[in-house]
Amino acid sequence: MIENKQHDEFHYSILYKIKDCIVSHIDFEIVYETINITDVYTDNEFRNQGIASKLFEVLFSKYKNKRFMLEVNVNNKNAIKLYDKFGFKTIHVRKNYYKDGDALIMEAKMKDTYILAIESSCDETSVSIVKNGSIDVATTINSQIDTHKKYGGVVPEVASRMHLENITFVLDETLSKAKMKLEDIDAFACTYAPGLLGSLLVGLETTKTLSLIYNKPFIKVNHMMGHIYANKIGNELKYPLLALIVSGGHTDLIYMESETKLKYMGQTLDDAIGECYDKVARIVDLPYPGGPNVEKLASLGNDTYFMPELLNDGTCNFSFSGIKSHVVNLVHNEKQRGKTINKNDLCCSFQNAVTNSLVQKTRSAIRKTGVKNLIMAGGVASNNFIRENIRKLCEEENVTFNVPDKKYCTDNATMIGSAAYILYKNQIFADYDTNAKSHELLNIEI
Ligand code: KG4
Ligand code: ZN
Repeated sequence: MIENKQHDEFHYSILYKIKDCIVSHIDFEIVYETINITDVYTDNEFRNQGIASKLFEVLFSKYKNKRFMLEVNVNNKNAIKLYDKFGFKTIHVRKNYYKDGDALIMEAKMKDTYILAIESSCDETSVSIVKNGSIDVATTINSQIDTHKKYGGVVPEVASRMHLENITFVLDETLSKAKMKLEDIDAFACTYAPGLLGSLLVGLETTKTLSLIYNKPFIKVNHMMGHIYANKIGNELKYPLLALIVSGGHTDLIYMESETKLKYMGQTLDDAIGECYDKVARIVDLPYPGGPNVEKLASLGNDTYFMPELLNDGTCNFSFSGIKSHVVNLVHNEKQRGKTINKNDLCCSFQNAVTNSLVQKTRSAIRKTGVKNLIMAGGVASNNFIRENIRKLCEEENVTFNVPDKKYCTDNATMIGSAAYILYKNQIFADYDTNAKSHELLNIEI
């Protein structure tokens, strides 16, 4: 647990505690615009675990745009490596200051970091400029929905061709909204997996090209990591937390010990929840994308149709294929009998059943892990009914709840910029031979 402590008007510490015991700390004094770091310490047995790095990150994010100074023994190679990582430069050498060597006076000025991110994994071409991983400077989203609507779903060949036609316009529009030039960007990031290969490739090759031309790092981001970190836009996250991801391709419960350590608690054994919404929409003749339309009708209906019980096996896994087939069969049978379906009631009954399953499984994951914080992410997280039910669950379980603004739930490049910043801070850059991948299990372990 990280704690801030103020000793007097000028002196402060940031502490890292394990079971009430301080195992690492940074002490510093604030003198006008300068932070003088007077001590950086970590207990022997807790070294090389990234604890001091975490304390530095807290210090830097708390005092943006200040100047940081410290002094270090030239022989203390581990400490110097850490300070290098955070951009400290030697500005003076005090000769023979220590018995065994010189003292280096190091300085760092934290400047704002601007990441330009591209998202093109499905049918949205989006470019965003994100400041310090949490501020949306400018974002453009060009949706292809009107084109794909005619076919009842995304046509991969058409999608990649449209990305190719749109990408430079979307890029220009974002830069002009931000009043920035490509030279002002510190790193270029994009989604490289999972998604439609042809679509991903457009964003990927554009990003690599920009990174090469402007000689700035190239960062590859897993799309689901982007969905999770949409929760960081304009917000601070508290760890450990549980992430409920509900999108067109995923229904996952993930335990996150920190922003770089996660463990899968459960996932769908068959269809994703968004996929199911889209199928139900299609069977009752609602246009693509089905989710928002099913939600609209559901809000006008009553829960009158019988729905089968969803997976209740004591695990945190989901299964939605049963309810999907049930709705398809029900509609076919009623049609064959010449009966009309009450679409509002059917959508309402379906939505209640899938929401109950999300609530039941999430409650079980909260209790199993004992977490006190929950976040929700993905396109389906923009559904009001689901948002309210998960919010209610969190109140009942005494857990904090965060869900992104609706515009950051469905696919957008801001979330990719937010996730890329975590990789940027940890200096995790990608090679230019990185390829697009249609499938990839999210795996953050830094
Ligand atoms: O996260 P997303 O934009 O793309 C993927 O990464 O999959 O999610 C798209 C899915 C689609 O299945 C769409 O129908 C669903 O999210 N969706 C919704 C709502 N808005 C989007 N589902 C239910 N209610 C909504 N309001
Ligand atoms: Zn998505």
